[in-house]
Amino acid sequence: MRCVVANWKMNLSFEEARTFCEDFLGHVSLGAGTEAGIAPPYTMLHLVSDLVRPKGLHVFGQNGHAEPKGAFTGEVSMPQLRDAGCSGVLLGHSERRQLFGETDAALIKKVKAAWQWDLLPLLCIGETLEQRDAGQTLDVLGQQLAILGETGPGPLWVAYEPVWAIGTGRRAEAPQVAEAHAFIRATLNRYFAGTEYQVPILYGGSVTPETFTELLGIPEVAGGLVGGASLDPAKFAALVKQAG
Ligand code: PGA
Repeated sequence: MRCVVANWKMNLSFEEARTFCEDFLGHVSLGAGTEAGIAPPYTMLHLVSDLVRPKGLHVFGQNGHAEPKGAFTGEVSMPQLRDAGCSGVLLGHSERRQLFGETDAALIKKVKAAWQWDLLPLLCIGETLEQRDAGQTLDVLGQQLAILGETGPGPLWVAYEPVWAIGTGRRAEAPQVAEAHAFIRATLNRYFAGTEYQVPILYGGSVTPETFTELLGIPEVAGGLVGGASLDPAKFAALVKQAG
């Protein structure tokens, strides 16, 4: 299975989102074995979901709170994401970890809550440049995946996103991606031993149509989580076609 997910972050207006979806759907149809999804800002979830879910695409929230409801001003819960048409939720994106203080302890609760409300978590992990330079990459990935020892196994996608490659135009080199993905697979095999779950491992960080084919040729790279290039419907359609 190949997976391509657009992470729009805090971009696009309502009308731009509508035009994007119409344009994108005009360019692409999903082949068997390819899964695609879009993670729009909350205000466009209903719109995007109405347009793309009938065509077989996923819609992801960009974050979700672990509690189902309550006094949490500014937050959106998992049942509310479902209500808005989501089938999944991004969790642990490095921007959430770095800018909004998201912790592994919070992520344990969020993954469990996503499963409770039948949402597919797309768990993002990755090291900073400092950590890579200090030779800590695999330790960091191992720590971030250790939350799975607390949640137990369940339906899951993982995205390896080196923080230094996000939005920088500086994609990780093939051997770096290969090493990280092999490590993530071996770690997942431990946490998911004896279960039926197949966890695809996506790469994220400055993915473009120019570099995606090479990335897809790396063992254990099942697809991409795409920021900048996913804001252009023709580029996102090209990425989905390359995955097909
Ligand atoms: P980028 O973002 O493709 O713009 O590097 C990827 C992401 O943050 O998921």
